[in-house]
Amino acid sequence: MQDRLNKIKIDFSKELDSISEPDNLRDLEVKYLGRKGELTKVLRGLSELSLEEKKTLGKAANLLKTELEEAVLNKRTELEGSTMGEGSLDVTLPVEAFGGAKLNPITSIIYEIEDIMTSMGFYVAEGPELESEYYNFEALNIPQTHPARDMQDTFWLADGNLLRTHTSSVQIRTMLKFGAPLKMICPGKVFRYEAMDASHSHTFYQVEGLMLGEDINIAHMKAIMRELLSRLFAREVEVRLRPGYFPFVEPGMELDFACLLCEGKGCRVCKQTGWVEFMGCGMVHPNVLKAGKIDPGKYQGFAFGFGVDRLAMMRYGITDIRLFYEGDIRFIEQF
Ligand code: PHE
Repeated sequence: MQDRLNKIKIDFSKELDSISEPDNLRDLEVKYLGRKGELTKVLRGLSELSLEEKKTLGKAANLLKTELEEAVLNKRTELEGSTMGEGSLDVTLPVEAFGGAKLNPITSIIYEIEDIMTSMGFYVAEGPELESEYYNFEALNIPQTHPARDMQDTFWLADGNLLRTHTSSVQIRTMLKFGAPLKMICPGKVFRYEAMDASHSHTFYQVEGLMLGEDINIAHMKAIMRELLSRLFAREVEVRLRPGYFPFVEPGMELDFACLLCEGKGCRVCKQTGWVEFMGCGMVHPNVLKAGKIDPGKYQGFAFGFGVDRLAMMRYGITDIRLFYEGDIRFIEQF
């Protein structure tokens, strides 16, 4: 029996030395240590021996088993070129470099807008995306039967709440929280029940603005918007006002900026007008101030709301709004 163990040991190490492929190593392991392996047979046979023999040979056989197992393990490590033992993962190996994380262009533009607006003393407010009818419509002077509710196709929830259709809902919440005077912006996601195409998305971003004081007027707003746009585009940007209608402002207006691509001469982007429609705005309606518990006899001011997506598209020359929301890393990596 002892001879058999010796022979196993010698044969095994000879065979082991000649192995250079992991597959062959596995075969060798099976041959000696597998269920029907050479050494396993010896170990099984021990039960038929006398107690004395069992003691000495059993010990020798078990030692040999450990020895062979270790030899297999070492060989495997050697073949797989790893210092970490069985698996072949060496966490100390240098890894291939991969690109760092990038912000979505919408996010980085919002950060810039926040920086510029806070430098002019505006507070950055937040509000819920899931909103009540009251804050989204009612308190903004849009009663139930008002046709303006059709201007914004709404995602309604079964319980009567909705996904906010504009960030104007945060005007009321912020007035109630801080009162007047007030200078705030609120960037955020808004939702409309619309078909998607290259220039429409059911989800997009707006920035709301609100400035209230004892003698705030539209000239202040024009100056602030000119400053914001000039800093965003790193050059002088001209703005103009046109009449517009929104129930929560009176008078209501739309603000355009001079097209940056054709410098006002007229091109495809500005539909040959030289101006790009940018935002809705106006003087806050007294009913809205009242809903915000602010005295319209004492305070007045302006509000505005613009889309961030169009701004980002203009700045980076992006022609399809859907790209912002697809999460394709190849798109994000370009900015
Ligand atoms: N909430 C309006 C919209 O979504 C924009 C707006 C905001 C207009 C504030 C006037 C004042 O179109």
